[in-house]
Amino acid sequence: MAVRMSAPAAQAQETRQRIGATIVEARSVRKTYETGAVRVDALRGIDLALEQGEMVAIMGPSGCGKTTLLNCLSGLDSLDGGEVLIEGTPLSEMSDRERTDYRARRMGFVFQFYNLMPVLTAAENVELPLLLARASGDEARRRALDALGLVGLVDRANHVPDALSGGERQRVTIARSLVNDPAIVWADEPTGDLDSENAGEIVELMRRLNVERGLTFLIVTHDIAIGRKTDRIVRMVDGEIRGEEVLGMR
Ligand SMILES: Nc1ncnc2c1ncn2[C@@H]1O[C@H](COP(=O)(O)OP(=O)(O)OP(=O)(O)O)[C@@H](O)[C@H]1O
Ligand SMILES: [Mg+2]
Repeated sequence: MAVRMSAPAAQAQETRQRIGATIVEARSVRKTYETGAVRVDALRGIDLALEQGEMVAIMGPSGCGKTTLLNCLSGLDSLDGGEVLIEGTPLSEMSDRERTDYRARRMGFVFQFYNLMPVLTAAENVELPLLLARASGDEARRRALDALGLVGLVDRANHVPDALSGGERQRVTIARSLVNDPAIVWADEPTGDLDSENAGEIVELMRRLNVERGLTFLIVTHDIAIGRKTDRIVRMVDGEIRGEEVLGMR
């Protein structure tokens, strides 16, 4: 007799199949900022592994080190101790050039305040990472329109950011973050500037891209409603990981 799984069980199995090798691993990562006489131990020995196809939320009080962690994991910021491995390669073994190239090819970024170029249209903003990676103009435009299609914004392709709503702007930045077909997308408070309805739509969109395209997401958020939509919530306090909650998807 064929066994029929309940919808949540089927979804959990699908999630397990999606989740594969470790894509990012932090080992005893430390980061200290010194400004004049003030020393801040922003990261005090972080161990964390993200698996391919996972969607993870980092939560914790303001100043606990969430942005610092994201910047250290993505190689935007240097470490003061420990190691970060990306797809098995230690960041410390890459040159600045290799790290920059890796980011351009394999990573996408979404920030709270969009970071869109105000004089460029939505399509031009989305094309930018491809043009920086030396794609041809035609190819960049085609892929930008595909990415805008994935976020439901083809009909806004020629709008500049000022002529878009907040939720639409964030969908443009999500299109931009996935246009280079990255392995992982880093999102620092992607819904921090949005009302709860738009925030919910943005996280649903990220979840859909996670499930359908196997994109790995690390999302820093203050919003527990966003955290609950992910596979796992990692809680930070004062530069340390103080626990995690696996949300029944795995
Ligand atoms: N460039 C910097 N120079 C000096 N101190 C810094 C710098 N960046 C961050 N810090 C300090 O490091 C600590 C962690 O900052 P971080 O931005 O990672 O916090 P966060 O968890 O992202 O907070 P928020 O939720 O408010 O964004 C804070 O105490 C902050 O003041
Ligand atoms: Mg922050």
